Amino acid sequence: MVEYSGRTALVTGGARGLGAEICRQLADRGLRVLVAARRREAAEEVCRRMGPAAVPLSLDVASADSVTAAVDEALERFGTIDVLVNNAGVSIDGPRTALDFDEDSLRVTLDTNLVGAWRLAGAVVPGMVRGGYGRVVNVSSSYGSLTLTDSGRHPSYRVSKAGLNVVTRMLAAELAGTGVLVNSADPGWTRTGMGGPSAPRGPEVGADTPVWLATLPEGDTTTGGLFAERKPLPW
Ligand SMILES: NC(=O)c1ccc[n+]([C@@H]2O[C@H](COP(=O)([O-])OP(=O)(O)OC[C@H]3O[C@@H](n4cnc5c(N)ncnc54)[C@H](OP(=O)(O)O)[C@@H]3O)[C@@H](O)[C@H]2O)c1
Repeated sequence: MVEYSGRTALVTGGARGLGAEICRQLADRGLRVLVAARRREAAEEVCRRMGPAAVPLSLDVASADSVTAAVDEALERFGTIDVLVNNAGVSIDGPRTALDFDEDSLRVTLDTNLVGAWRLAGAVVPGMVRGGYGRVVNVSSSYGSLTLTDSGRHPSYRVSKAGLNVVTRMLAAELAGTGVLVNSADPGWTRTGMGGPSAPRGPEVGADTPVWLATLPEGDTTTGGLFAERKPLPW
């Protein structure tokens, strides 16, 4: 029996892939986990497998109304959201290049990967600041690193994750000294719907760095970084 830590985490895109595994690992560490997903039934199914620490939440990060409703529901039921894992993401322009980008794909990708994560932080972080404790993890990618970018493939995805990394830096600067730590995590190429079957690592390995950052202990000062395998990655 895992002892409840008193902390509540909200994980977006929690019903499959890395998100579901992040939920499982956070619950194993004693957190109550709000499994947030567009399809409520999918979140409920994950929660049935995880047991009483997991609670389903309907949430489409691309909809401002949905974000407001989900955060209101969570705060009403549980009082605080102590940990936010912005995991939901899409990658829909793989075959394209920087000179051949598609505007519709760009809009959907930015609205989900960048604006979605940012608006969640906007809705959740003020409560964290009031409580003097918070962990925000933006699930990013080495594809969003300016230093490591050596190709124009996946153009919308790269731009969205580079933007997300700037959000991490801005929030970390703005929240210095509040007890709220904000970091980006690169899970690495992982076998999920997005990563595909050829990826070298399973979700339990890919989830490790996001979960580590989501559970940084009280008093830790790690903030404003991009990490892979628990080590800093160049921006
Ligand atoms: N897999 C990799 O190799 C890899 C590498 C680097 C970074 N990442 C990042 O890791 C994160 C998780 O990816 P994954 O590999 O687990 O991908 P995945 O298997 O395709 O899962 C993506 C998740 O995001 C959710 N999602 C998409 N749009 C959403 C929206 N508007 N609102 C709420 N949820 C939404 C999906 O929900 P539905 O079920 O409703 O579609 C699904 O739960 C992403 O941010 C991704 O960029 C993955």
